[in-house]
Amino acid sequence: MPRAVRFDHYGGPEVLQVVEVPRPIPGPGKVLVRVKAAGINPGEASIRKGLMADRWPATFPSGQGSDLAGVVEEVGPEVANVAVRDEVIGFVNNRSSQADYVLVEAGNLVPRPANVSWEQAGALFVAGTTAYAAVRAVALSEGDTVVISGAAGGVGSIAVQLARATGARVLGLAGSANHKWLTDHGIIPVTYGDGAEDRIRAASGGKVDAFIDTFGGGYVELAIKLGVAPNRIDTIIDFAAAAKYGVKTDGNQAGASAEVLAQLAGMVAAGRLEIPIAKVYPLADVRDAYRELEQRHTQGKIVLEP
Ligand SMILES: NC(=O)c1ccc[n+]([C@@H]2O[C@H](COP(=O)([O-])OP(=O)(O)OC[C@H]3O[C@@H](n4cnc5c(N)ncnc54)[C@H](OP(=O)(O)O)[C@@H]3O)[C@@H](O)[C@H]2O)c1
Repeated sequence: MPRAVRFDHYGGPEVLQVVEVPRPIPGPGKVLVRVKAAGINPGEASIRKGLMADRWPATFPSGQGSDLAGVVEEVGPEVANVAVRDEVIGFVNNRSSQADYVLVEAGNLVPRPANVSWEQAGALFVAGTTAYAAVRAVALSEGDTVVISGAAGGVGSIAVQLARATGARVLGLAGSANHKWLTDHGIIPVTYGDGAEDRIRAASGGKVDAFIDTFGGGYVELAIKLGVAPNRIDTIIDFAAAAKYGVKTDGNQAGASAEVLAQLAGMVAAGRLEIPIAKVYPLADVRDAYRELEQRHTQGKIVLEP
């Protein structure tokens, strides 16, 4: 029997179970994909803990996961863009990709370029489209200086590279273990914590034009203090500060589309974008995967492989 991740009440990683489920049957416009890799994201942990119950409640039993890459196993009626055995990257909006098989809207699938690894392909959707939207929101151009918090995390590691590709100077807030990776990608690393404001001022020469916050906990306030205009600040997590200061919140919803996914996959294939893979866990170890993610020190992405 195929397996899928399920949970039937809110709680910590221990509520996650891998259970046997019937193989889904694709209806009109749907495609059955055999999952090769599925990235995991902090938002899924927040939903599972019930922290988003007012915005995005769970219905039980709930599945989990939006990101996926895999092989087309079966196509439903009225599907013209993919065929059985195609290798694809995609996404679902109904929390179901962490499974052996997933049903996907045909329009949410793009081809997997041959030289994009399964892990990178399966990790691309949420973090990639979020980073894309956040970078677009702050309208960077050559000569700008942008600061990015959580610079080596899932979203941040992609955002710093997309920001750098605009020609902007990019300062990345990260722990020292990530400084070499940032430097190797043309980013100026800045250590977070006490004194970060002074270190940013020193590293930027006092001119900061834009700020992308992927961590929360006071970075919007810091950006305002640094003199960044609210319309050039984007946070993907601190919605209270966004409402208070009138800054942008473009994230996954603003960037999510097959077109953006295909564009990002093309950049990876061309060697212009790296998706760092911190660790790959078997699907059966989904609890351990989230325990690691919830430490909030992942460099890049954690991926599940059925
Ligand atoms: N709005 C949306 O559409 C959207 C979409 C995706 C994600 N999100 C949210 O965005 C956040 C980031 O997601 P993610 O997938 O990138 O998470 P992640 O991969 O877990 O990123 C964690 C990163 O945070 C860094 N970090 C830890 N403590 C820090 C501190 N005090 N200051 C600055 N950085 C610190 C870590 O850096 P070090 O290892 O260097 O310590 C690590 O690189 C999550 O809260 C997630 O829920 C929102």
